Amino acid sequence: MIRQEAEEKGRIAAQKPIEQTTLVDMDVIECPYHTYKKLREEAPVNKDPVAGFFTVTCYPDVVKALKDTATFSSDVIDLMSPPEMRTRFEDYGGYPSVPTLITVDPPKHKFYRNPINKVFSQARVNQLEPYIQQLVDELIDKFIKDGKCEFVSQFTVPLPMIIIADQLGVPRSDIGRFKQWSDALTQQISGVSTREQRIAASKLMLEFQLYFAKVIEEKRANPTDDIISDLVRARMENGEPMSVPELLSVLNQLLAAGNETTTNSLSKGMMLMLQHPDQMQLALDDLTLVENLTEEVLRFDGPVQGLFRVTTCDTTLGGTFMPKGSAVMLLFASANRDEAQFAGAETFDIMRKNAANHVAFGQGTHFCLGAMLARKEMNLAFRTILTRMKNIRLAPGHADPHHEPSIVLRGLKELHITFDPA
Ligand code: HEM
Repeated sequence: MIRQEAEEKGRIAAQKPIEQTTLVDMDVIECPYHTYKKLREEAPVNKDPVAGFFTVTCYPDVVKALKDTATFSSDVIDLMSPPEMRTRFEDYGGYPSVPTLITVDPPKHKFYRNPINKVFSQARVNQLEPYIQQLVDELIDKFIKDGKCEFVSQFTVPLPMIIIADQLGVPRSDIGRFKQWSDALTQQISGVSTREQRIAASKLMLEFQLYFAKVIEEKRANPTDDIISDLVRARMENGEPMSVPELLSVLNQLLAAGNETTTNSLSKGMMLMLQHPDQMQLALDDLTLVENLTEEVLRFDGPVQGLFRVTTCDTTLGGTFMPKGSAVMLLFASANRDEAQFAGAETFDIMRKNAANHVAFGQGTHFCLGAMLARKEMNLAFRTILTRMKNIRLAPGHADPHHEPSIVLRGLKELHITFDPA
């Protein structure tokens, strides 16, 4: 199937009557933007007929819900995965799953967030620049002479993975396992995983817990200069350190939120440049545009399509009534295509003045902890690629990259390219 066919299928899927318009459809997942547009125009807050949750697709409504944490709670674990369906890791020698950070509302949220805020601050990320640049160059060195590569496995997967492993203070030799764990985590929230996949994912999560519980104990005994040591030293509201289950939950999020998302944004940036050679040329002619290119990639096709909230009371949003206890998916990727916010929103335009006003990193309390790091990785990677690789194109026979099946995270499975070394 060539790209135009995927587009066409996405367009056809979006032509169904609004009562039948769902996100849980493989054609929509491959190409969701026609469906988002239809929802924005006809039912900005809609109850998905297949999934049963509400979808919020317009920019102002998404932002309103993100800011109103009292009504739109992030405490979604029970709703998304009822206790009777969840694996009790403690029954298999592991640790109970507990909510932290992304699934905790204010005021408790800050007790998890404060200890790690500084680790990913702009100042700290700026200090990491030479180190990230070196990694970018080392990865490109490995394939530059070949004139071709599978960009996802050879560049966009290892870059964020090595960075997070180094920052956590665990050996790079273990990143193959990290990738498996990170994939297991993202599959669990895909919205379309099978029972077998969920069982396999639970086994991997147990493995993750046991591995990091050991690292936590080692860092408690011999703290070093890394994130896990910072976390074990941090004190909560009651003056106590975080428990092992709490620490595992935070680490779990750093691994899942930090890897897959950055990987997908890097691959998507390359793909968008290939699909829009005029825009790539603009960046080539003026490398100072790279930072805005990064923002436009995140706006135009961000890796987190949307995330969930649960209503704490009866409420109305975008004219739609939602009873207390409703699951609500805030579609960041749709908000970022809202014409009322971004003129010509369906056009990929790296000169766009307000590209950085996107909500690809969320907004408010849960605004992405790793946004500065992700931006830095993308800026350095795109700049280096544009400098070191010329005449980049999709490899023959690979003109049709596909996305992973997920309604939440959007990423290319693989991306085969050819190029001339500069
Ligand atoms: C392009 C890459 C990334 C994107 C698009 C992204 C997107 C997001 C979004 C949309 C949220 C908000 C969640 C919500 O409102 O419920 C979030 C939160 C979060 N992100 Fe990212 N993320 C990226 C990279 C990273 C990286 C590199 C890290 C860490 C190393 C990270 C760690 C986190 C954490 C821990 C949270 C939860 C924050 C909280 O609840 O206070 N993310 N991210």
